[in-house]
Amino acid sequence: MAGIDAFERLAEAVSTPMVIVTTRVEDETSGCLVGFSTRCSVDPPRYLAGLSRVNRTYEVARQAPILVVHLLHDSDRDRELARLFGEETAKDGVDKFARCEWDLGPGAVPVLRGCDWFGGPVVERVDIGDHVGFVISPEQGDASRADEPFLGSADLGELDPGNPT
Ligand SMILES: Cc1cc2nc3c(=O)[nH]c(=O)nc-3n(C[C@H](O)[C@H](O)[C@H](O)COP(=O)(O)O)c2cc1C
Repeated sequence: MAGIDAFERLAEAVSTPMVIVTTRVEDETSGCLVGFSTRCSVDPPRYLAGLSRVNRTYEVARQAPILVVHLLHDSDRDRELARLFGEETAKDGVDKFARCEWDLGPGAVPVLRGCDWFGGPVVERVDIGDHVGFVISPEQGDASRADEPFLGSADLGELDPGNPT
């Protein structure tokens, strides 16, 4: 196995952290499950989340000044949130925020209650293909559950994305 096949095989095999990205523009809140995300700078601290162009969250995030990233843990509640934000889409008229508990975070962006999170201004948007990289400066957050095991893509099992890429 070589080249692109090797890449696909390895990319599928590795377990990546699962996060939920939320954002807001005026009265519209939006959020989705994201598997493509990583810290991408130490100094200054920066985090990159890849949002698919087909998602409503991407459309909102294009205009949004602030994103919040929730790092999910291996708990029943976080798995339920992963399912809600990964399988449902605002494009079908689903209001995900009516189906979970949340508080107002930075810039009135929803912070999912009980989750670990960080968030801050979007400092760059990078065209990387069918996803766009949103680079944020993580200036606020809460790491109360940082000692709990995290939820990776390998732990999630089959989920059907609300908008297949
Ligand atoms: C395991 C898994 C990983 C996903 N990874 C991403 C991702 O990295 N970026 C993204 O934009 N969407 C990703 N999605 C898809 C969105 O979470 C999904 O299509 C969601 O329903 C979009 O909702 P929205 O249209 O309301 O934004 C993933 C879905 C699943 C199930």
